[in-house]
Amino acid sequence: MGGLSSGGQAKRSELRIAVLGGDGIGPEVTSAAMQVLEAAVRDDGVKLVRDERPVGWTAVLQTGSPLPKETLDACVAADAVFLGAVGHPDASGQPREKLPETGLLALRKALECWANLRPVRVPPSLVGVSALRAERVRGTDVMILRELGGGLYYGEPRADEGKRAYNTMVYSDLEVRRMARLALTLARGRRGRVTSVDKANVLEVSRLWRRVVDETAAEAGEGIEVDHMLVDRAAMELVLNPTRFDVLLTENLFGDILSDQAGALVGSLGALGSASLGDGTDLYEPVHGSAPDIAGKGIANPLGAIDSVALMLRHTFHMDDAARRVEYAYGAALADGVRTGDLAEPGQKKASTTEFTEAVLERLQASSREASIVGGGVR
Ligand code: NAD
Ligand code: IPM
Ligand code: MN
Repeated sequence: MGGLSSGGQAKRSELRIAVLGGDGIGPEVTSAAMQVLEAAVRDDGVKLVRDERPVGWTAVLQTGSPLPKETLDACVAADAVFLGAVGHPDASGQPREKLPETGLLALRKALECWANLRPVRVPPSLVGVSALRAERVRGTDVMILRELGGGLYYGEPRADEGKRAYNTMVYSDLEVRRMARLALTLARGRRGRVTSVDKANVLEVSRLWRRVVDETAAEAGEGIEVDHMLVDRAAMELVLNPTRFDVLLTENLFGDILSDQAGALVGSLGALGSASLGDGTDLYEPVHGSAPDIAGKGIANPLGAIDSVALMLRHTFHMDDAARRVEYAYGAALADGVRTGDLAEPGQKKASTTEFTEAVLERLQASSREASIVGGGVR
């Protein structure tokens, strides 16, 4: 049962995670995230069982495929999947079936992950590193809800005919409706507002999207404010007035683009985590890529990967206290000025990936000691 299933879950004694480090900084941030996950569940007497598998360019070099069958089988069999990042400069020019990104898209499809949650919060301690002025960005808390199983990424027909190439943007009403329902559910637990993004002034697909979102909202009744925004305007409003957004509902490509832009609100793409949920095994992946420019230097920010762990604890394992402890621990590390280079302010020391991770682990341990003294969760 995945993160979109409702109802209580029996307490588990072990979490079986398929761990796909991938390429570039992927393995570096994955190792950090797995240390945090292990420490976060240890106090609850839960054991972490990792099944490490290749994906992306690393897998192409080892097996000829970016998503080997053994990797996919391990993912399907796991309680949840964690993926670092895929992508490598050497892969450019390869046929589509040998591209690292094709492996990731095939994995999302095989695991039936159709919804991608990308929370974007600017904590008070990071207001100074945002690309925006403090007064614009303070209080930003947006849940980008990106459709992940359709649109231009998977639409047929598609082809590169040499002198002509095309892709197809296609959505069915069912694909839109389940997204709209999820957006309404998420908004209910937040500030009660959904902004649905489209390009309905040009695209038929967007007119269907808008119609189905309206129908779904009408069926759901009162209580949630739903509005529509053209994607070009949404890109502008995200920079001019980010605090106006609560749940930002988008199709696949629009969400891909707007979420990287949202990374600049926080100050670095390295800070964003995500949950990919649907009808199969849940997949957790930071929003950023393999960052070839900094790979192997030990300086990558593991925050997005660590936040993905918090999302995994909450959505797949329903371990809300453990998720909050992780969020508390990285929030405290940031507030204490422990930052990797991408989030460091002028004059501030730049922590390595390992130093930032150690700082999170220390605060996690301190918070669980405190919790065991007061006998409750820590916030
Ligand atoms: P990228 O996200 O890899 O990097 C963009 C910029 O952000 C770079 O300057 C990078 O150094 C910086 N950055 C990213 N993550 C960071 C982190 N954790 N800490 C510090 N700085 C970080 O995007 P790109 O350069 O456009 O793409 C590189 C490769 O990654 C491509 O092959 C692309 O397809 C792939 N990619 C994969 C995923 C994924 O696996 N989920 C996501 C996005 C891009
Ligand atoms: C992301 C990435 C992927 C996407 C690529 C690597 C296929 O950019 O997860 O944001 O476009 O979905
Ligand atoms: Mn992207």
